[in-house]
Amino acid sequence: MDSYSYKITGGKPLKGDVNISGSKNAVLGILAAAMMIDGTCTLENVPDISDVHVMVKICETLGAKIETELAPEGSVTLHIDPREINTTEATEPDVSKIRASYYLLGALLARSGKASLRMPGGCDFGQRPIDLHLKAFRQMGAKGADYRNLNGGIISLNANPLRGAKIFLDIVSVGATINIMLAAAKAQGNTTIINAAKEPHIVDVANFLNSMGAKIKGAGTDTIKIQGVPVLPGNFTYSIIPDQIEAGTYMIAAAVTNGDVTVHNIIPTHMDPLSSKMREMGYTIEEGDDWVRVSKDPEEAIWSTNVKTAPYPGFPTDLQPQTVVLLCLASGQSKMDEDVWENRYQYIPELTRMGANISIFDHIALINGIEHFYPAQVKATDLRAGAAMVCAALAADGTSYIDGARRIDRGYEKIVDKLRSLGADIEVAGSVGFYEDREA
Ligand code: UD1
Repeated sequence: MDSYSYKITGGKPLKGDVNISGSKNAVLGILAAAMMIDGTCTLENVPDISDVHVMVKICETLGAKIETELAPEGSVTLHIDPREINTTEATEPDVSKIRASYYLLGALLARSGKASLRMPGGCDFGQRPIDLHLKAFRQMGAKGADYRNLNGGIISLNANPLRGAKIFLDIVSVGATINIMLAAAKAQGNTTIINAAKEPHIVDVANFLNSMGAKIKGAGTDTIKIQGVPVLPGNFTYSIIPDQIEAGTYMIAAAVTNGDVTVHNIIPTHMDPLSSKMREMGYTIEEGDDWVRVSKDPEEAIWSTNVKTAPYPGFPTDLQPQTVVLLCLASGQSKMDEDVWENRYQYIPELTRMGANISIFDHIALINGIEHFYPAQVKATDLRAGAAMVCAALAADGTSYIDGARRIDRGYEKIVDKLRSLGADIEVAGSVGFYEDREA
């Protein structure tokens, strides 16, 4: 079924325990990194989501051998052997289905000194340039990286040799930080990234690269130092970190339904920006070594608050739409300041159909509290916006349809099963006609 919706009959408090899968954004960078290994590796805790399926297919098209094994707990283990990769061109149409295919530029440059890439895709929330990636590769000696001279949507780079460099990122960019780490791991000499991004998945990709034999220090701080090495022997097993955004989405789903949910298999410090906002709003957030429990006295009010998205350890932009749903249910007026992406409010008209009262002023959303959401037929305008619609539908008394659910499945492993195990009434249904069937 190409186009389908989620049918949700909401109004039931979510209760119980849910396990979080491996991080989508970490595994996508790590799969690209695995293409650089001079040996083999095994990846555990890989989320079984469509973005991973697409990335695996792209890697196989390059010549990598990837065996998929279903793990008993539901996730996937991948056995990867990239030794027979025989091309430097990642130009098949699947490349433009996902954003993270851009990591193959850094990986193929590191592997062979050459790379061609079809322009990557991803969620549509404004311009998503990769000028910082290309500027950095130029500083490392790559030629042909001129963003203005794209040949039919293909970027071609050639570095002979690829050399380490001191790179200052004008903007804190997750993608550029990871791409530079990949290229620098095998470049000649040393690279320093200044003003690097610090997201948990940056650290995970760096740890994976170091397990391969790379020499990277400082990941998780704003200065990362990489000493290039000629060979990355590999032959190891690595487990992907939990998904911070999936965890946050279940925390919010619990909160908007006045539920009581314990979210397991997470790193609680990754959740601090959300946990502290939820506490401010009146929720009880308890934490253990690898879990967080969300609950609230239903008689207590939900307090309004202000949130501003920012690079880690700031509030994650990928939790912005879900958080706006939560803020809708607070008393009084809340403010969301989306400071990372220029156009990440495209879902607001959909939320308005469910009763939200929100005014947008450039990157600021003023959210006036409402008593409850109404059920409606809405569409998932992108992955996280779709997750926000799921949260709103879970809170609404009555039956909603979220069209374009395929976009949600890009990043949420077994969302229907997980929500059902918490007591939600959710099922897959046919498209209700709101969704234009195109890739995001
Ligand atoms: C990654 C995540 C995405 C998340 C985002 C911010 C993946 C696959 N995607 O996207 O889910 O929303 O981080 O946490 O990991 N910028 C430039 N030039 C560039 C690169 C970025 O101007 O070359 C700007 C962007 O327009 C944006 C900001 O920098 O305003 C941050 O983007 P970046 O961190 O690079 O996001 P992605 O890596 O694309």
